[in-house]
Formats: sequence, C-alpha cells, structure tokens
Amino acid sequence: MRTKVIAGNWKMNKDFRQTEELIDGLKKSVNFDLQGVRVILCPPFTSLELASRIAKGTPFAIGGQNMYFEDEGAFTGEVSPGMLKGVGCQYVILGHSERRQYFGETDEFINRKVKKALATGLIPIVCVGETLQQREQNITEQVVTTQVRGVLKDISAENVEKLILAYEPVWAIGTGRNATPQQAEEVHVLIRKLLAELYGAATAERVIIQYGGSVKADNAADLLWQPNVDGALVGGACLKADSFSAIIEAATAKK
Ligand code: PGA
Repeated sequence: MRTKVIAGNWKMNKDFRQTEELIDGLKKSVNFDLQGVRVILCPPFTSLELASRIAKGTPFAIGGQNMYFEDEGAFTGEVSPGMLKGVGCQYVILGHSERRQYFGETDEFINRKVKKALATGLIPIVCVGETLQQREQNITEQVVTTQVRGVLKDISAENVEKLILAYEPVWAIGTGRNATPQQAEEVHVLIRKLLAELYGAATAERVIIQYGGSVKADNAADLLWQPNVDGALVGGACLKADSFSAIIEAATAKK
C-alpha cells in the first residue's frame, strides 16, 4: 500500500517574510491528522532554513528545488546536497521541466544529481513529462520511457524504492489545463510497467509516482483517486494556504 505524497513546489516565489506568512497560514488551515499522507514544502533556497525552523513540530517536511552533484568547490551559484540537509531538508526536486527547459538539464545530468542525492540521504522527487508537441505527435510513451530510463540509469532497486517520481506533462504546468485523471493514470501505468521491467513487479508496486500540472483544490480528488496516482506535485495552488490545504484534505480523504 503506497502512501500519498503532496509536495508544494514554490518555485521562485515567496521572500523571507512571505515564507513565514504562508507557513503560519498552513499551520492554521491544515488538519494535522494526515492519515499517513506525507506533506512536503519546497521553498526557494533563501527560505529553507526559516521554513525548517517554523515547520518544527508540524507534519510538514522540507525540500529543496534543485542541487548540484558535488559536495563543495568552485561551482558559483550552486548548492550541495549536504547544504540542503544542513538546513533541515529531507527531499529535493530534481529535473523539473523548468530546469530542463530554461537551464538545459539533460537526463544524464539529472541522473548524476539523483545518485548524489540518494548517496547523501536526501529523497529525490524526480520529474519527467512530455511537451505539448510531443503529445500531439503521439510520442508521449517514447519520451517518458527515455526520460525514466535516463534519470534512473544505474540506480539499484533498493534505491528506486526510496525516491519519488513525478509525472508532469509540460503542457499542463502553470497553464490551468491539467491532464484528465484518465490521461494521468495512463502514463502512470506506463511508468509502473517500465519500472516492473527494470526492477521487478514488487519494486514497481512500491514506487511513489506523483502527478503534477495544474493540480487545484477542485481537481485534486479526481486525480488522486486514480489507482496509480500516489500524490501531487503542486505549483501555483501551493502558494496560498487555503488552496494547498484543500489539496492535502483531498488526499487524506481518499485513504
Ligand atoms: P502548476 O506547477 O501546479 O503551477 O502547474 C506544477 C509544477 O511545476 O510542479
């Protein structure tokens, strides 16, 4: 039985003061009886230490939105996994489509980060997903298969069970146009079949696969109802306490 995981990807939003405001709001609006649902907040680097501190004593875990695969050194502008751990992060989002699109990240590069995160004891949330053009060309399966194989290259079954995959169709991110529950389920099934091929059925059954892309309070329940959708990676709707807590509530109600 897989637990549901709801993660909020704040992206480049919320300064120090706004971070405090949002987490205070969540403390008031979220019912802490989460029924085993995991909730992760991923603010920008500059807010991570503060977020960890004010989320102490709540069920909210903290995650970074990116990291580099070296421990330290001359890598201007980068942040190491150890640094994330040091400010209280347990998770890190890797290979988000915005990183792929605007910063040129490839499956191979993401794979190095995934391995390093696992070796450091961080749980990576690894993103895959096709563009609109790829969906229209009917190559979604091919694209997602290549991405999953690429980001998981040389990662053992034992480690794959620890990480989280996020299927995020690029055409659904920030567009208000979410995948239908059927479209999401279809790709999640495809990913799980691929995992079964690579790691065996038992491992594949245990891997958490989140859906991301315009998840909102009013569509969360239907998406989370799908048998192979194990949670949500939420962008826009996680920036307000009421909408994010409504999504968490939809996840807890489905247990
Ligand atoms: P969105 O973003 O919910 O704003 O579509 C999701 C994501 O990019 O993780």
